[in-house]
Amino acid sequence: MIRNAFIMQITHELSAQLEQLRQQHRYRTLVQRQAQHLQFDSNDYLGLSMHPRVKAAYAEGVQQYGASSGASPLVSGYQAPHAYLRQQLAQWLEREDALLFSSGFAANQSTLQTLGSQYQRIVLDKLSHASLIDGVRHFKHWKRFRHNDVAHAQELLLPNVANLLVTESVFSMDGDHAPLNQLAELPADVWIDDAHSIGISGESGRGAGATLSAAQAPLLTITFGKGLGVMGAAIVGSSVMTDYLMNQARDFIYSTAMPAAQAQAVSASINVVQSAEGESLRQRLRDNIQYFREQCVAQGLPIGANQHAIQTLILGSEERVIAWGQSLRALNIYCGIIRPPTVPQGSSRLRITVTAAHSTADIDALVTALIITRDLVEKANVTA
Ligand SMILES: Cc1ncc(COP(=O)(O)O)c(C=O)c1O
Repeated sequence: MIRNAFIMQITHELSAQLEQLRQQHRYRTLVQRQAQHLQFDSNDYLGLSMHPRVKAAYAEGVQQYGASSGASPLVSGYQAPHAYLRQQLAQWLEREDALLFSSGFAANQSTLQTLGSQYQRIVLDKLSHASLIDGVRHFKHWKRFRHNDVAHAQELLLPNVANLLVTESVFSMDGDHAPLNQLAELPADVWIDDAHSIGISGESGRGAGATLSAAQAPLLTITFGKGLGVMGAAIVGSSVMTDYLMNQARDFIYSTAMPAAQAQAVSASINVVQSAEGESLRQRLRDNIQYFREQCVAQGLPIGANQHAIQTLILGSEERVIAWGQSLRALNIYCGIIRPPTVPQGSSRLRITVTAAHSTADIDALVTALIITRDLVEKANVTA
């Protein structure tokens, strides 16, 4: 009886908080993906997760190295495919070295926590990903600059001290680009999270971050679970930085290394990205984005301005975006239903990702479903 006292009280409190989220239309649930769903909510921008060479590399890796790396990298989890991938990334992105992490979240959070104390001031874009915010939140010397506002970033930097400026090349919930060249002019070390750009933009898919030199952007986050179609991440930079992280970053030291098979699949994916096929997949992606946007404009749908695979329909309230999302699901179309706290209050949105794997018929089905939904939801007069 006494043993259960705390858990009962806490369960009661948690249930009340969950109920509050329901009332605010912010309660989240898992939806199991089904083969017959038409997905417009994946970050697999080039469709590489289903590419025969990527799948074969994964399968061969499992045969050769097993399903797990078996230990953290500094113990015995580091194998030939990990070493190869590090070298491949460094060469491709023209940096000295790369350090592998099991996710982009871990890479960002852990690296910021580890390197943050070396800087006297850290500034981040207001719309930076949660993993970057979590990396700095326990420090006192960080500030956020207004989204993509170079002058404001400059204002927040301190004179004559070590400044670190962190931004994303493409913002995950808006699909817009950071003004990287201008930010690189500021008196700060620039760290670019290239999660939504690697593989799909830049020369041979090197991403937006690598359009800047190592001197302009000494740190890059490269995630493997989006355009590269696999999972995991790397921090790419100088060998001293990666060596320091290898010795000090707790997520790297105290976590099981990604399976060697996974590293092998990422390498195969990079090979596809660098090939002529990668170029044609990027072209197909651009064509699909353009086609989708043209259809939206022609139908008067409130599509955002950017040209990235991440397309947005800003709808306003949580209730409204939920109503749109549910109507679309009833029509077998799955889009991201994005609400606060992921995005600012009043800017709930559908996050629609168009990929190279979509056919014209898929996009037509999406646009038709959006039109039906608009008519239904707006007729029902769900508050904006
Ligand atoms: C900009 C950005 N950085 C980092 C991450 C985290 O990457 P991962 O999914 O590999 O943990 C994400 C994922 O949503 C992201 O959008």
